[in-house]
Amino acid sequence: MRFVPAQSLVPGMILARSIISRKQAFMLAKGTQLTAKYVNYLQGKGYLGAYIEDDLSKDVVIHETIETETFEAGVEAVAEGNVDDIIDVSQSMVNQIASSSAISVDMVDLRSYDDYTFHHSVNVGIYAVAVGKEMGLSYAELEELAVAALCHDLGKSKIPAEILNKPGKLTDEEYATIKNHSKFSYDILYDNDAISATVRQAVLMHHENENGTGYPLGRTGDEIPKLAKIIHACDVYDALTSKRSYKDPYPHEKAHDYLEGGKDTLFDHSVVDAIHAVIPAYPPGIDVKLSNGEEAIVIDQSDQPRRPIIRLKHRNVKVDLSNDHAYREITIVASGIATIIKDEPVEVLNEKRNTEDRRKLVMIVDDSPISLMQTKAAIGQDYEVVAIANGIEAISFIKEKSVPDLIIMDVEMPVLNGISAVRSIRDSGFTKIPVIFLTASCDRETVMKGKAVGASDYIIKPASPTYLRERVMITLEGEIDR
Ligand SMILES: [Fe+2]
Repeated sequence: MRFVPAQSLVPGMILARSIISRKQAFMLAKGTQLTAKYVNYLQGKGYLGAYIEDDLSKDVVIHETIETETFEAGVEAVAEGNVDDIIDVSQSMVNQIASSSAISVDMVDLRSYDDYTFHHSVNVGIYAVAVGKEMGLSYAELEELAVAALCHDLGKSKIPAEILNKPGKLTDEEYATIKNHSKFSYDILYDNDAISATVRQAVLMHHENENGTGYPLGRTGDEIPKLAKIIHACDVYDALTSKRSYKDPYPHEKAHDYLEGGKDTLFDHSVVDAIHAVIPAYPPGIDVKLSNGEEAIVIDQSDQPRRPIIRLKHRNVKVDLSNDHAYREITIVASGIATIIKDEPVEVLNEKRNTEDRRKLVMIVDDSPISLMQTKAAIGQDYEVVAIANGIEAISFIKEKSVPDLIIMDVEMPVLNGISAVRSIRDSGFTKIPVIFLTASCDRETVMKGKAVGASDYIIKPASPTYLRERVMITLEGEIDR
């Protein structure tokens, strides 16, 4: 079977897996031949796509991480906020995942757009349990993890839907409202005897970042419970790869890049490694495009995460990218989950998000010419960039020439370090310009000093272009994982 994005579904295709919607109100059983009406329905309801059966993909096996019934029971329990049912579902989820010999989460289609929060919570539960298993958590810990993952966003029921689903950027006030949801989730569980303190803490802190920039408590590193760290990274992974009212889905490999970029600043190191291990960057059954222009379907994983076993579409030939001589130099350049393959998915996405008339001005301050060049290359397509070699010049540029929309500031610089430069910019009256620190290390002292001068983010050097671009976008346009 293979995964066909909703836009590419056509009448006549045969479903390889059943599609069940909430309360079983709409069901298309495995083996059903799609009609125009069914295709319209799936596209209209925002399904990412469907798994279909065809000759090209006969030998592609998708491992069902949990049973469809369990998944749907989870969606139902979360939608109703029924904690007893959530606990039951959590136990069956853990049973199924813990007892399975399969190591990866292959499914990519089990989410529906119009009731995102409920599907999202179950997806996060599946990812979290698989990641927790990889990290060696005990059975009892996995059960608490599953309950916390399913409950993490229950508090969103108290946030107005028009804010949750608002297309485009949120106002500061709206974003502050959304940020209350983890506390609301905690409150909902507070008086429930069936919920342990461990679960409540994990729910409360699922938006905390390693470097203290998260919410609601601004905790750092070891102060954040392990279960909260796992839910946090899985939450962001699922938000990135999902379609939302305000964003297109990321291909899985880009979501991996993003998490890797946020290691030790946003996410726990070992959690990110476990995610790399259990969620394939190229899940079986998806379309990929190669650097030589050929199109293919992913058949299976190899021992190299970015070089899976594929089948070329036009020649019907199987190629193991991890050891095929003829394909040694060939790489995967794009993969299609949401739409037909786009050559530059992230760039296209950025272009759509960056629709304001005036291109925003980003000031990069760094004493290393190489570092300046890399940062400029990563964001120069989307923004006007002014590159400046030291803190003193940066201050005079702002005072005399132009006030940037964002400053990306190196920390260790001769003459005037980045922290002092920002302090001086703030003291000159420019209190609102957002600042991202680009640092070689992200120790607690740097973070505390950065906080004191109102930094909005810290990125560790050298940063991957995907991560850098997305963090700049998030700072200027708003969060991805509302
Ligand atoms: Fe959340």
